[in-house]
Amino acid sequence: MINVAIDGPAGAGKSSISRRAAATLGFIYIDTGALYRTVGLHALRLGADVKDPAAVEACLTGDLHVELRFVNGEQRMFLNGEDVSDAIRTPEASLAASAVSAVPAVRAYLFDLQKQLAHENNCIMDGRDIGTVVLPDAQVKIFLTASPEARAERRYEELLGKGMDVKFEDVLADMIQRDYNDSHRAIAPLKPADDAILLDTSGNTLEQSVELVTRTIRENMPR
Ligand code: DC
Repeated sequence: MINVAIDGPAGAGKSSISRRAAATLGFIYIDTGALYRTVGLHALRLGADVKDPAAVEACLTGDLHVELRFVNGEQRMFLNGEDVSDAIRTPEASLAASAVSAVPAVRAYLFDLQKQLAHENNCIMDGRDIGTVVLPDAQVKIFLTASPEARAERRYEELLGKGMDVKFEDVLADMIQRDYNDSHRAIAPLKPADDAILLDTSGNTLEQSVELVTRTIRENMPR
């Protein structure tokens, strides 16, 4: 199977770019952030303090079933049989995902599922630690980034589009804080694999970035 790992910070365009590149190449696209979001939502629903690692770990019982299914080619997330694909996109679920993703037991819990999916499919898997931890043998590894300003600009436009009342300065400050947290956590910090290809999408349109990523994968994958 051909496995492509795409890692990078929030707002670099990983998911939109990966989804389109995968469709062009005939691969499946796996969004691993959605797995952390599903565990985060589960912890929230149980009323756990997501900032308390022991409380989060206690949520990983035999009753928890996190499932990823493809419906019409699109990834959907199921939490104990319920489709939570929309529920995991709220700001609360984002914060919970960020908190639970720093808990080693959560990362271990999701590790096998990610490995299994990559073992069975030609795929582009995106996340933070795919090239470094989950798929260290991926045939192509890309670290996708953009300046904090460019990433904050995209997030700002997206939030305005959803009718939210936000200030650009706040979105930028939040982006810089998240970058710091993600790259300084003790476990699986965000960093490029030694053999990753670095691509910067600042100033690109989505189409240009999709073209760049698709071309990079084609040029570097085994034939
Ligand atoms: O990509 P995202 O915003 O949906 O990710 C949600 C959270 O999960 C984010 O705070 C980082 C974390 N995450 C991670 O630690 N490792 C991954 N492979 C993917 C996401």
